[in-house]
Amino acid sequence: MVINTGNLIKPSIKKDFAISRQQAFTITRVYQQMGCDLLTPGFQELVNGKMIIDELVKAAGSMPLVCSNLRDAEKLGIKPFVVLHKGGKNILVASLMDPRVQKKAIHGITIKDPEASLAKILAAVPHDLAVVILHFSDLKAREIVRRVDGIDLAILATQRGIMASPEAEGKSYLVKNNNHGKTINYLDWNFASRRPVGYRSIVADREEVKPDPQVEKQVDTYESWLRKHYISMETVEKESHGGTQISTYLGARACARCHPEIVASWKASRHARAYASLQKKCKDYCPDCLPCHVTGKKNPLNGIGFLSPKKTPHLFDVQCEQCHGSAHQHVKAPQQPYGGNITEKTCIVCHTNQTDPEFSFEHDLELVNH
Ligand code: HEC
Ligand code: HEC
Ligand code: HEC
Ligand code: HEC
Repeated sequence: MVINTGNLIKPSIKKDFAISRQQAFTITRVYQQMGCDLLTPGFQELVNGKMIIDELVKAAGSMPLVCSNLRDAEKLGIKPFVVLHKGGKNILVASLMDPRVQKKAIHGITIKDPEASLAKILAAVPHDLAVVILHFSDLKAREIVRRVDGIDLAILATQRGIMASPEAEGKSYLVKNNNHGKTINYLDWNFASRRPVGYRSIVADREEVKPDPQVEKQVDTYESWLRKHYISMETVEKESHGGTQISTYLGARACARCHPEIVASWKASRHARAYASLQKKCKDYCPDCLPCHVTGKKNPLNGIGFLSPKKTPHLFDVQCEQCHGSAHQHVKAPQQPYGGNITEKTCIVCHTNQTDPEFSFEHDLELVNH
């Protein structure tokens, strides 16, 4: 039995729900294609109500979506529970959502009392094993497990972290595997002793797991949709604000007249190909990637740098003014002091532990010096 416990999508940025909807559709479809038995929508999927639920239902096909305390669940296309028949046993799977989602939820959904909803299902539905997914803080989830009789296995689906082994809580067992979808937890259940016997965490590492062509195709479709979306959003923004912001950064071409050698040496460096790297990955409009691959967006020293691919195409790549600051005044009065001290801080806004774990200021400075 394969379960996905939700929280698949990122919170929407600037209320751009088109992206959330597309993410919800893509990720759900991928799990359906992988043969997942069921998916339980998490906080991120339910907080925007029907708008996202509709996408989940569309993408899920025959894979059930489960939430046990959502009012009118069936009308929305969600099941209050499922009973899976595996190895001659009936496995009841339920899922409870924290009613606090309601306070933030828009597009009207109603969350019922979790404990009462679960107790009713456990009493009414015959089963050999009861698995419950709990979308609560760990503390609150443990409280529910203590108070509702008959939960065999509880999966904590909200707070980050992975449990090294199942933890006993009364007659129930708790497990947790929330690692940005990068880990698969595997568990064997012994029906005679009513306890877990085998338990493993498998890291779904890019190096270890071969990409699946069907999944890759889904991701490519999403990526090219996203790129088109960003391009269209930029057009909308330009029209609605009339492009009021103007950049004070000049771009490297403005330096060539007086610093030709330095410009030539920069052109040969990888900083001068940073935008091309994004283009190669079709990420040239992606707000997650742009800040470190353009000039004056990440920690501008002064003035206004990169605004958008359409407004400021002269600021693609990591150019001079990323390190030296806007040269707006400098070109008018070159003899005046210009630019601040270049320190490690100048670099590590982009050369972070994640993007460049081997970065060393002393060594790497040698490579960009001119
Ligand atoms: C009109 C000519 C001219 C242009 C255009 C120009 N510079 Fe300069 N720059 C100079 C002169 C002259 C100096 C000071 C003398 C020297 O050390 O070369 C200088 C000095 C500098 C310094 C050292 C400043 C200091 O206080 O130590 C930096 C950094 C610099 N320029 C960067 C740039 C950048 C970046 C651009 C393009 C955006 C640029 N310059 C465009 C003429 C120019
Ligand atoms: C705005 C973000 C940004 C800042 C600030 C920045 N870099 Fe980079 N740097 C990049 C990116 C992006 C690349 C990779 C370009 C590519 O190949 O696409 C890169 C590449 C490099 C490389 C070549 C890769 C390598 O390891 O051989 C060196 C060296 C480097 N940077 C040094 C520095 C130093 C030193 C500083 C500070 C003085 C600095 N960078 C500041 C974004 C930045
Ligand atoms: C926090 C800053 C930062 C962000 C955000 C960032 N990058 Fe980079 N990127 C870097 C730096 C720094 C390097 C150079 C690392 C090195 O090779 O030493 C780099 C290098 C690269 C390279 C060339 C090196 C390689 O591995 O082939 C590609 C391609 C790239 N980034 C793509 C992306 C994409 C796509 C995104 C968005 C998903 C992104 N980057 C977001 C900082 C960043
Ligand atoms: C990755 C950061 C970085 C980039 C990009 C960069 N520089 Fe520099 N630049 C430095 C550092 C470091 C120094 C050494 C002096 C210092 O520490 O201030 C320096 C010094 C200078 C100087 C003064 C010393 C000299 O050699 O005359 C000039 C002029 C200059 N840079 C111009 C440019 C121009 C023009 C560009 C773009 C074509 C550029 N820089 C791009 C980091 C950078």
